[in-house]
Amino acid sequence: FGFDETSEAAIPAIIAKYPEGRQASAVMPLLDLAQRQMARQIGHAWVPRAALDVVADRLGMPRIRVYEVATFYTMFHTTPVGRFHLQVCTTTPCWLRGSDVVMEACSRAAAADGETFTVEEVECLGACVNAPVVQVNDDLYEDLDGPRTKALLDLLRRGETPKPGSAIGRQNSAPEGGPT
Ligand code: FES
Repeated sequence: FGFDETSEAAIPAIIAKYPEGRQASAVMPLLDLAQRQMARQIGHAWVPRAALDVVADRLGMPRIRVYEVATFYTMFHTTPVGRFHLQVCTTTPCWLRGSDVVMEACSRAAAADGETFTVEEVECLGACVNAPVVQVNDDLYEDLDGPRTKALLDLLRRGETPKPGSAIGRQNSAPEGGPT
C-alpha cells in the first residue's frame, strides 16, 4: 500500500491542522484517507495491514498505536467489507419504529451477497426524528420499513444511487411557527 496522488495531495493540509510536534493527532484522518483510497481503487473500504504501517511511518508513530486506533473505532475496517456498508440503527427510537425489519432485510442481503453488502448494527445515528434509519457508506436513508429497505437495496445492487434522506419525503424541520 502507498498513498496515491489524490491522497498525497490532501495529506499536508491534514497534518497542518495540528500543532507542531503533534502530528500523531492526524492518525484518524489519515486512516480515513487510506480507507477511502481503497474504496476508490478496489471498491471495498478497508485499511490493510500495510496501510496501517504506512500511516504509522508517515506520522512517526509506533505501529502498535495505529493498530489500536484502527481496531478500536468501528468506522475503520481491518478486513474487507462489501461495496455497501449498511449500518442499521437499533437504538430505542429506531427499534420502536421497526428497525428489526430493516435489519432483517439488510442481513438477508448481506448473507446472499457479501461482496456487495456488509451489515452492522449501530447505536443512534442522530436522525431519530425519521426513524428507523440505515447509513449506507456516507449516506443516511430514513423513514424505512421492510419494503422500502428492500427497494433501497435493489437500487444499490443495480448500481443506482438512491437519493438519501426520508423515504417518504418527510422534512426534519420544525413546523412553521413551532419550536425551533
Ligand atoms: Fe436511530 Fe437515533 S435512535 S437514529
